[in-house]
Amino acid sequence: MTGDGSRNKLHEGKAKIVWDAGDGTYVVEFKDDATAFDGKKRGRIRDKGRCNNLISAALFELLEREGVPTHYVRTLSDREMVVVPLEIVMVEVVVRNVAAGSLAKRLGLEEGVPVAPPVLELYYKSDALGDPMINRYHVRALGLASDEEMDRIEALALRVNDVLSRAMADCDLRLIDFKLEFGRARDGRILLGDEISPDTCRFWDAATNEKLDKDRFRRDLGGVEDAYEQVLRRVTAAAPTWRAARPAVSGPAQARVYITLKKTVLDPQGAAVENALKALGYGEVSGVRVGKVIILDLAEASPERVEEMSRRLLANPVIEDFTFEIVRGTGARSHSVPV
Ligand SMILES: Nc1ncnc2c1ncn2[C@@H]1O[C@H](COP(=O)(O)OP(=O)(O)OP(=O)(O)O)[C@@H](O)[C@H]1O
Ligand SMILES: [Mg+2]
Repeated sequence: MTGDGSRNKLHEGKAKIVWDAGDGTYVVEFKDDATAFDGKKRGRIRDKGRCNNLISAALFELLEREGVPTHYVRTLSDREMVVVPLEIVMVEVVVRNVAAGSLAKRLGLEEGVPVAPPVLELYYKSDALGDPMINRYHVRALGLASDEEMDRIEALALRVNDVLSRAMADCDLRLIDFKLEFGRARDGRILLGDEISPDTCRFWDAATNEKLDKDRFRRDLGGVEDAYEQVLRRVTAAAPTWRAARPAVSGPAQARVYITLKKTVLDPQGAAVENALKALGYGEVSGVRVGKVIILDLAEASPERVEEMSRRLLANPVIEDFTFEIVRGTGARSHSVPV
């Protein structure tokens, strides 16, 4: 699709177009265009844009629920998602669990040999230079990010690896390796950005080791469209099991509803607390959101009804997000509800 007139095209890349929606959010539009080998190989993969958008959305939602802050706000259409505007950190982070691609070539490892513990690599995001591999000294010398930001980015990347490796196992896929991009939101928080798809990850079928990712295009293996559709189908089938299980709690229970400003809304109180904590020497604090807790005593607790109450009255869905947990006795179940 093209702009609706009120949108402003900010960037047209090889795989996506970034639009300024004019309301403090960006829209990322996923294209069918495919490139490989620094743009030397070009083509189109039918419906890749739809697959990558919907796969990314499901994985961002999962990561968010698992405590990894992402730029994902909501899905706008089959090919578009609304995201938080980021100042992209020009360092691409690659995490590898199994030797493949450039790692296999550079270190003389046979493709398919596990590398443990996982290997984390940094690349300078520069098309003109062919995205050269760099290390933390280069990041410092080029002023690409602060040490604190890189510590946070590397910790998040490894957490993403843990969460995605487990989730992909639910899809009968092996997560071989993947590339992430992070960015700074307006409030300075580091969020995971860009996309998570067969364009940016290597996925192999768990039973056959068949490649179900962009390597099919890179290496002319055929069945390219099918591979993207296959990953989307498997992710879509597994996604409901990733959403927190919500068994009703029988008997008296307590619901605790946590309300915070949406991440697209500036939180001046959170920023003030963060600055004050840092001034007191708590440098490990990389983000603070201030919100409120509403505690409901219930004769009978249905997660669906607590969600409904939160949505209809307790939270303002225009500017606030909520999560809740239902507690009975000493046990607590936490339900994360993206609004
Ligand atoms: N939330 C965001 N805010 C701003 N820019 C973003 C956000 N998420 C991703 N981007 C950037 O948007 C662009 C998406 O386009 P695409 O992935 O097609 O670019 P590309 O051709 O790979 O080129 P590049 O080398 O810039 O990544 C990338 O430059 C990516 O870094
Ligand atoms: Mg890109």
